[in-house]
Amino acid sequence: MTSSPVLTASGLVKQYGDLRALDGVSLTIRAGESVAVMGASGSGKTTLLHCLAAVIAPDAGSIVLSAPGAAPRELVGLNESERSRVRREALGFVFQEHLLLPELTAVENAALPLLLKGLRRQDAERHAAVWLAALGLAGLEHRRIGQLSGGQAQRVAIARAQVTGAPVVFADEPTGALDSTTSSEVLDALLLATTGQGRTLVMVTHDADVARRCSRIVRVRDGRIVGDSAQDADEPASPVGSAPAPVADSAPRSPAVRPTASPAWPAPASAPGVGPVPASAAAPAPGQASTSTSTSTSTSTSTEATR
Ligand SMILES: Nc1ncnc2c1ncn2[C@@H]1O[C@H](COP(=O)(O)OP(=O)(O)O)[C@@H](O)[C@H]1O
Ligand SMILES: [Mg+2]
Repeated sequence: MTSSPVLTASGLVKQYGDLRALDGVSLTIRAGESVAVMGASGSGKTTLLHCLAAVIAPDAGSIVLSAPGAAPRELVGLNESERSRVRREALGFVFQEHLLLPELTAVENAALPLLLKGLRRQDAERHAAVWLAALGLAGLEHRRIGQLSGGQAQRVAIARAQVTGAPVVFADEPTGALDSTTSSEVLDALLLATTGQGRTLVMVTHDADVARRCSRIVRVRDGRIVGDSAQDADEPASPVGSAPAPVADSAPRSPAVRPTASPAWPAPASAPGVGPVPASAAAPAPGQASTSTSTSTSTSTSTEATR
């Protein structure tokens, strides 16, 4: 049941002056995995995430990105503009502070990656609106970010990370600024939008409850991987219906861009604009209840910096 690797990192080293933030990290991430990266503050989690996501360049090592339908690509050695292109084309990002542009509306923020890809504004926003609705934000498209709750804003950020159909999504403490109920709803939305669609999620988190929902936990200490364990993912399987299809640069008027009145995935919020999204909008489909954490079991034990 092992799927093909999407990211293969080996021997990653990142040095900041005298400080070795990454000290020989090797890690293979497979398609459809949800990987929680955990570790104390300063252990190197964000540095690792940023290297894997081509945000920064490591000083040594190799990172091969094998996006579906594209030739495997070595990311180490790319210059800034090449890395930026890889990020735009194949990767999605969700940060702790959603990093949305406050002067823009929800739909304008979510549409940004499509505008960067050259889509016409109208088409980009139409597609972004489908994703917002799929994430339970129907009716809130034209609110500015400051008019949304923290959880709603983070769902806009999740929509923004999905609109291009990126096969790998990175998240750095995506629920770190949210209360536990909102955190759980946002995590549901994030998992449905990523692994629920066969995509791959790599997520830094401090929160054991969040990590428990992932299919694998990687532990980092002093720039090294000190633990790597698979677990039964408590995550939603593919829901009924499908998420909006990715938009191709060259086909801005493709049928895939056309909005549907009521996206089948996941159910839109029943009362747009009124408080947090109902649990049913972002929760797993019936039969895939999110209460099965008690069945999660660790299937392998920690290994000492060998992966
Ligand atoms: N741009 C930078 N310049 C200098 N030191 C940095 C930089 N980024 C991170 N570091 C240092 O590298 C170490 C790892 O940082 P980071 O990856 O952010 O840790 P974590 O995300 O686990 O808290 C820390 O000691 C941090 O201070
Ligand atoms: Mg960090």
